[in-house]
Amino acid sequence: MRTANVVVVICIAGMSAIFAIASHGQMDVAGSNKRPKAEAVDDAAGNLHVPDAYRTTYQSLGSWAVSADQGRGSKELHLVYASPGTIAAYSRDGHFPAGTVLVKEVYEAATEPMTTGTVSHADTLKGWFVMVKDSNGRHAGNKLWGDGWGWSWFDAANPSKTTSTDYNVDCLSCHQPARASDWIYVQGYPALKQ
Ligand code: HEC
Repeated sequence: MRTANVVVVICIAGMSAIFAIASHGQMDVAGSNKRPKAEAVDDAAGNLHVPDAYRTTYQSLGSWAVSADQGRGSKELHLVYASPGTIAAYSRDGHFPAGTVLVKEVYEAATEPMTTGTVSHADTLKGWFVMVKDSNGRHAGNKLWGDGWGWSWFDAANPSKTTSTDYNVDCLSCHQPARASDWIYVQGYPALKQ
């Protein structure tokens, strides 16, 4: 009797595990054309906008400091974020899955002596660069999409309307050195190098 009870309990546990896997699998299938899941950043015509909640829901990838032309410290700081799931997906196979969104904040920096030394910190936000990974040519013919990504710059005053017109002119030449890593400067992102 006791053995039978144990068997029943194990069976129920096993079945609920199977149901859990099955329903999880279904969710994956439903979202498979746009993973990792994130708020959509493009409309039907392929116009991008800066995702509203990236500061709380995205993963922080890393930062860049652009040195001041004269004197000490940095003139700009760039902070880069990726949509949820990017780090795990990239660690698995070294690729950005379709739907991956990257946001680069560009700050004018301020520099001052602090107890740690001469230190620059993010001061005024100038705007955002946004890229969306696209493996399916979803917006062929749109000049802000190509080479596997959607590309746009947004001035700080308007996160919902880009000032970019053609990624070939506005973005691509500067990203040539990163061509072999899908146009992304991955050397600056510790979590993608593990
Ligand atoms: C003046 C050269 C230059 C231009 C123009 C440029 N980029 Fe970049 N971009 C870089 C460099 C260099 C980095 C990494 C170092 C840094 O931020 O200073 C970078 C980083 C990025 C990142 C962070 C992910 C990564 O690649 O490391 C995004 C997102 C990005 N750029 C998007 C864009 C988009 C979109 C455009 C066009 C609208 C664009 N960039 C135009 C040079 C440029």
